[in-house]
Amino acid sequence: MIKSILGRCIFIATLLIAIAMSTCTQPSGKNENNTSNPSPWWKEAVIYQIYPRSFRDADGDGIGDLRGIIEELDYIKSLGVDAVWLNPIYPSPNADNGYDVSDYRGIMAEFGTMKDFDEMLKGMHDRGIRLIMDVVVNHSSDEHEWFKQSRSSRDNPYRSYYHWWPAEKGKPNYRYSLFDETGNAWRYDSLTDAYYLHYFSYKQPDLNWENPQLRQEVYDIMEFWAKKGVDGFRLDAFQFVAKDTAFPPFPEGFEKDFIAYYAMQGNIHEYLKEMHLRVLAPYKVMSVAEGAGRNFEDAHNLVDPERKELDMAYAFEGVDIAKYDGYSLLHFKEVFSRWDSAFAEKGWLSVFLANHDQARMVSRFANDTPAFRSASAKMLHTFLLSMRGTPYCYYGDELGMTNIGFSRIEQFKDIVAINSYKKALSKGEDMDLFMKKLSFESRDNGRTPMQWNDSPHAGFSSGTPWLPVNNNYTEINAAAQDKDPDSVLNHFRRMVQLRKSNPVLVHGAYQLLAPEHPEIYAYTRIWGEEKAVVVLNFSTEKQRFQMPGLSSPTKVLINNYPHVETTKNGGEIILSPYQGIVFSVTP
Ligand code: NOJ
Repeated sequence: MIKSILGRCIFIATLLIAIAMSTCTQPSGKNENNTSNPSPWWKEAVIYQIYPRSFRDADGDGIGDLRGIIEELDYIKSLGVDAVWLNPIYPSPNADNGYDVSDYRGIMAEFGTMKDFDEMLKGMHDRGIRLIMDVVVNHSSDEHEWFKQSRSSRDNPYRSYYHWWPAEKGKPNYRYSLFDETGNAWRYDSLTDAYYLHYFSYKQPDLNWENPQLRQEVYDIMEFWAKKGVDGFRLDAFQFVAKDTAFPPFPEGFEKDFIAYYAMQGNIHEYLKEMHLRVLAPYKVMSVAEGAGRNFEDAHNLVDPERKELDMAYAFEGVDIAKYDGYSLLHFKEVFSRWDSAFAEKGWLSVFLANHDQARMVSRFANDTPAFRSASAKMLHTFLLSMRGTPYCYYGDELGMTNIGFSRIEQFKDIVAINSYKKALSKGEDMDLFMKKLSFESRDNGRTPMQWNDSPHAGFSSGTPWLPVNNNYTEINAAAQDKDPDSVLNHFRRMVQLRKSNPVLVHGAYQLLAPEHPEIYAYTRIWGEEKAVVVLNFSTEKQRFQMPGLSSPTKVLINNYPHVETTKNGGEIILSPYQGIVFSVTP
């Protein structure tokens, strides 16, 4: 058995044949993702996502705020990330924690003031960190002045900022609402005897993008933030903005295939081109859409550069794989490989396994038991930061924060949890099973306060946190991990630096190795003369991994265990549970 120390060059003469013999070729010809093209900053960036409500509370009201973020800017800088994506910080009645905006040009009082915002943005820029703001314009809050006006009378000038259906025409054709407790996207409003449309909760009426005046308002709002110096926009639920406003009937059961009927309708591309011309191009802000449409064609149409719409796709197929009853690594590999190959030559993807709409990454995709949490969280970071595309890290995942696993409905705060519970109850579903799934999948799992240290409330707040802190904060927290060179946090930092110093990990062509292996995910990245091989064990067992053939000098670039174990004859690597290694290979 050969053992070598982390980071030390090792030469495994009989290993890694696949690497050199790999059929993986540098895509040639007209490839916008090749070495000769200058790379925009967002392709080489690592993005850190902050859910402001849960990140850091500076004023002790139990709710995270902008001053809390300001206090932690050096921590964010220490991660090595290039940009922060901030979930909405605008005034909101908080039916959906800020995704129901009542004033697009303000700051939610609980989060602070515009002065705080300006200071935060400057603090980020001073540290070389860019800011991406969430733009929530598929819908507003029902407490936005536009909606107040719109509902006040049928002839109000703001009436057509939203979708109304006069009751004298009878009931509108059924539309499905993702968040409504009955699932119905039409809500009757007696004030004007009409129904309004809300794909999310009734507190989030959908804006009417067919109205050019509304579109100009949105571009003005984006311009307002662009002029302040923000560097990018994430377009919330944007694939749903355009609708067939005749609202024709849909076939029975259509709502089970929500995306097919709701995504990428009508004039969406015209709207995006208009937005590009009016705001994105002149202010040189990057843009990422939430969702990537119904298929690769849709996804490409959103982000192919010559179309001049958006920059980066954010597709859900990968993050959606993990379910309450598990997932298959074969499926996972197939999905990530398929998306990579569809974007190999053109367009650009986001790479992520978590965000504020998901439970914790390590609990869903790996193993949050004490024996494996740390290794498996590091292994997932090795994966995310060695794939092509722009990696996103959701706050707390750099520590390996885990699901809190609420078990009683009274513990949940999220509108989705509460309304889907009501819906399931009224439909007579198996509520034990429902609660088990909710406990595993709920968005609240991913929104518990950041675990800063082992003081009360994990140092998140001196008050009572709006959502409880996970009890494991005494063990899992930033202060402890900062001091421990072997922590998930320090592995994350090393992995970010590795990506930055090895462009092959950003741009290199990807090829899956051993596609049939049920527990190992291995792939090559090739960029000009540079080659990297990533080998990840997604299981609790040791796994042998054979790479057919050859003698190539290899170097361990990063390893979440101290050693690389090989079989006696050197023909195979033996990976420990959740071991993840990146090798560089000299051709
Ligand atoms: C997608 C956001 O990510 C989610 O948090 C929100 O609830 C919906 N859009 C509605 O805005």
